[in-house]
Amino acid sequence: MNEDLQLEPEPAASNWVFGYGSLIHKVDFPFIRREVASIGGWVRRFWQGSHDHRGTPEAPGRVVTLVPRPGWICRGMAYLVEHQVFDHLDHREKNGYERHILDMTLHDSGETVNGVVYLASQANPAFLGPADMREMAQHIDSAHGPSGSNRAYLLRLAESLRDIGEDDAHVFELERWLTGKSGSPDAP
Ligand code: SIN
Repeated sequence: MNEDLQLEPEPAASNWVFGYGSLIHKVDFPFIRREVASIGGWVRRFWQGSHDHRGTPEAPGRVVTLVPRPGWICRGMAYLVEHQVFDHLDHREKNGYERHILDMTLHDSGETVNGVVYLASQANPAFLGPADMREMAQHIDSAHGPSGSNRAYLLRLAESLRDIGEDDAHVFELERWLTGKSGSPDAP
């Protein structure tokens, strides 16, 4: 054994994670680097049930997942994190979301990296799927869970999408229903 050999501690493994919903703005984890990023072939939809954050098992809320849509681009926020952060994220996203590895393009540096995206597929038991916009808006307006109101989830997401320059017609239409700008969901 070479007594002189000084081993540097191995750098902590790191990876990228792409957030497209609450992970854009609710950053309750440490990160090494963060950049606005895009992934191709996916669209954001309020089709996932939330039993643990914005609703309860008896009265689930509605939160976002990504649905495959060839040719579409979804903009979000990418974070370079150390591996142990995934224990926290796996717990946070445990209600139907699974880790998938996808390519993402970082807007500032122009790099393409691959990283983790938490996706809730239609096979998960909490998946709700599509409904008409008025019905979804009414549902979101009434649901509450341990992390707060479903309404606050949607309004905060809409604001954070504007902040990163994402024009998401689905989210902004639901926002208009909730804020009364396209007629209240309770209007006849
Ligand atoms: C995400 O933000 O990437 C996943 C969905 C959510 O937590 O809202």
